[in-house]
Amino acid sequence: MSTIRLDGMSKGFGNGRGIERLDITVDDGEFFVLLGPSGCGKTTALRCIAGLEEPDGGRILLGDRVVADAGRGLFVPPDKRDIGMVFQSYALWPHMTVNDNVAYPLRARRVGREAVGRAVVGALDRVGLAGYGERYPAELSGGQQQRVALARALAASPRLILFDEPLSNLDAQLRARLRQDLHLVHRETRHTAVYVTHDQTEALALADRVAIMKEGRIEQIGSPDAVFRAPRTRFVAEFVGYENRLAARVLSVDGDRAAVALPGVSAPLIARRTGPLEGGRTADLLIRASRIGLAAEPAAGRAEGQPGGSSNGLPVRVEDVSFLGDHHQFRLRTADDAILTANIPAERCTPGLLGAVGATLRAILPADDLVALDAAA
Ligand SMILES: Nc1ncnc2c1ncn2[C@@H]1O[C@H](COP(=O)(O)OP(=O)(O)OP(=O)(O)O)[C@@H](O)[C@H]1O
Ligand SMILES: [Mg+2]
Repeated sequence: MSTIRLDGMSKGFGNGRGIERLDITVDDGEFFVLLGPSGCGKTTALRCIAGLEEPDGGRILLGDRVVADAGRGLFVPPDKRDIGMVFQSYALWPHMTVNDNVAYPLRARRVGREAVGRAVVGALDRVGLAGYGERYPAELSGGQQQRVALARALAASPRLILFDEPLSNLDAQLRARLRQDLHLVHRETRHTAVYVTHDQTEALALADRVAIMKEGRIEQIGSPDAVFRAPRTRFVAEFVGYENRLAARVLSVDGDRAAVALPGVSAPLIARRTGPLEGGRTADLLIRASRIGLAAEPAAGRAEGQPGGSSNGLPVRVEDVSFLGDHHQFRLRTADDAILTANIPAERCTPGLLGAVGATLRAILPADDLVALDAAA
């Protein structure tokens, strides 16, 4: 069983940084992603699992085996953990050819010559480096070296693979292709994987479950769908792409719906609650730029929120519009002087909408896409 259990695992660096009391269980065959901004402790957590750092608190179990226990001073070195690794730095042997680099872990395991040859050719082919086997790492670009490191981890097909931003040096196209490859390989082999990234697209595409990290701690763990749809803190929401935030007052709560009042807007808005929230509290309303709609402001005199006037809307002044390929980005100012960004698909941008700079429109914030969090969350 290739499960991983971190039991209150901590690692400090004497400067107040590192990771604090991580509790994570990764199931056998699961693809687990650690997602978080630079410096939050992702690499440190991975290095502890690999045995490249010794935790100074808590325990690590691989399957039933305790490989680190700070309390008992127990520590199993990396080469006794049977883990494949693809790290941020490629860590290739400079004096070995690509073929030898990829073959290295297999040879160390005394796999037969022919099987090694087949695995190496297959893995290089998979990462788009067929024919590069005789080159040395110094004769490859950074992205190509990264793909060799990836091939090396895939060729050995260990039960447990740790990935530290393995796609970070690749161009967008190759990145997308290798991401798909990784997904496919994982479906075939069902190895247990811990994958570190700060790229939410990678997390969405690859993860069975994702943990969002902040300053050495875990903020939220769940399926990508749960975390992306129902962030429970402002940090998580903003990190997973809820670009817009408005301050509001909670009027009432009914199940997962909350009625909220925005300064300068007469009709209440309905939002979706993802955590504890009570009437009278201040809430952050969060919404993705891609979920905001724009409509003509209803004729003067008609009350907001009434039939005919789009519900869950607020008047906004259009300050700027820029073209970003498949969508136009609108910079909007609310009556309360908050700025909203709305991304409207190009095909839905009428000449009237594009010419609306300076005009007042109605921003539509669908209740299901509008997340309300207690401002203290
Ligand atoms: N060997 C070390 N000595 C001192 N501080 C360290 C050491 N390694 C990491 N840190 C600090 O610990 C924190 C976590 O670092 P870590 O490398 O785990 O972050 P990360 O989430 O992987 O970031 P990135 O996305 O930039 O790779 C950082 O503040 C870092 O400066
Ligand atoms: Mg890192």
